[in-house]
Amino acid sequence: MTTLEKAGPEQTDATRTAPLLEVRDLHVEFHTRDGVAKAVNGVNYSVNAGETLAVLGESGSGKSVTAQAIMGILDMPPGRIPKGEIFFRGQDMLKMSGEERRKIRGQKIAMIFQDALSALNPVLSVGYQLGEMFRVHQGLSKKDAKAKAIELMDRVRIPAAKERVGDYPHQFSGGMRQRIMIAMAMALEPDLIIADEPTTALDVTVQAQVMDLLAELQREMNMGLILITHDLGVVADVADKIAVMYAGRIVETAPVHEIYKAPAHPYTKGLLDSIPRLDQKGQELYAIKGLPPNLLRIPSGCAFNPRCPMAKEVCRTDVPPLAAVSDTRASACHFWKETLDG
Ligand SMILES: Nc1ncnc2c1ncn2[C@@H]1O[C@H](COP(=O)(O)OP(=O)(O)O)[C@@H](O)[C@H]1O
Ligand code: SF4
Ligand SMILES: [Mg+2]
Repeated sequence: MTTLEKAGPEQTDATRTAPLLEVRDLHVEFHTRDGVAKAVNGVNYSVNAGETLAVLGESGSGKSVTAQAIMGILDMPPGRIPKGEIFFRGQDMLKMSGEERRKIRGQKIAMIFQDALSALNPVLSVGYQLGEMFRVHQGLSKKDAKAKAIELMDRVRIPAAKERVGDYPHQFSGGMRQRIMIAMAMALEPDLIIADEPTTALDVTVQAQVMDLLAELQREMNMGLILITHDLGVVADVADKIAVMYAGRIVETAPVHEIYKAPAHPYTKGLLDSIPRLDQKGQELYAIKGLPPNLLRIPSGCAFNPRCPMAKEVCRTDVPPLAAVSDTRASACHFWKETLDG
């Protein structure tokens, strides 16, 4: 696109109707001593305001690397983005200056990490760290920033916020610390939050509480939410749609209730079958056989073929494109019809 077109009215209209975030054909690779690790190999997904997208996949499938590319915090080098676009409100962030990028980070797009203890500064009080957001970005006085910090702690339902505002991160439980991370991410009322395994380190009951809180605040503030997880069980109630990742690609996308009813990709089916279910107590849990591929040597054809119970000859030679299953669904499997029919 030329500079003239960029400044023209077409771009303004496009910006108005564009999804909040759209990732297009994103590729990320890491240049290591052993070779090039292809971590992200053509990811496409989008999120609208008020919508929750769950990104699901085993460890090493490229979920976090995609998030880091969106957030602009990828380690470069060794990381490199050879191809792709990341549109935020219709503007490609990969073409923005460092300054423009910084303005978006934290204020428009915020991130919540799995490990609150290492994300928070151990020698500063929680109130100070929350208040800092307002002092730095909104120029509030120390006193006003502290009041805002207490307000935020109340909002994420930390009991006795007023008394605890001076406490340090290690004085809070894991669940409470994750609430503090959520408060921090919400502080500047961003348009989009990326939560990368936000509850993975927590007990199951606490997981559900933190997930519910996140979903409630997201609805209240009409934010977009990208929820990264390896656990399909925790996102079922809060996500609108799911993108399943394998070896750096999206292999299936669908509205959440449809994917539960009938997956259109054998990998998704494997993930679903490995969720513990209350009505099947005592039965041995299914596990997908084998391991995710080495990203230095991704198998030819469908990357899942060495592990797939439905693999045929064509799977070893031809990469299945992410093809439409319906208006709202897509699957990257040569045999999605057979899979869908069970
Ligand atoms: N800083 C890095 N240097 C080299 N390789 C990396 C780096 N970060 C990620 N990778 C590679 O990218 C792969 C995908 O990582 P990641 O996105 O973190 O997976 P996950 O789906 O578990 O979040 C890793 O298995 C690793 O091979
Ligand atoms: S393309 Fe073949 S190997 Fe890949 S998921 Fe489908 S059936 Fe399995
Ligand atoms: Mg990860």
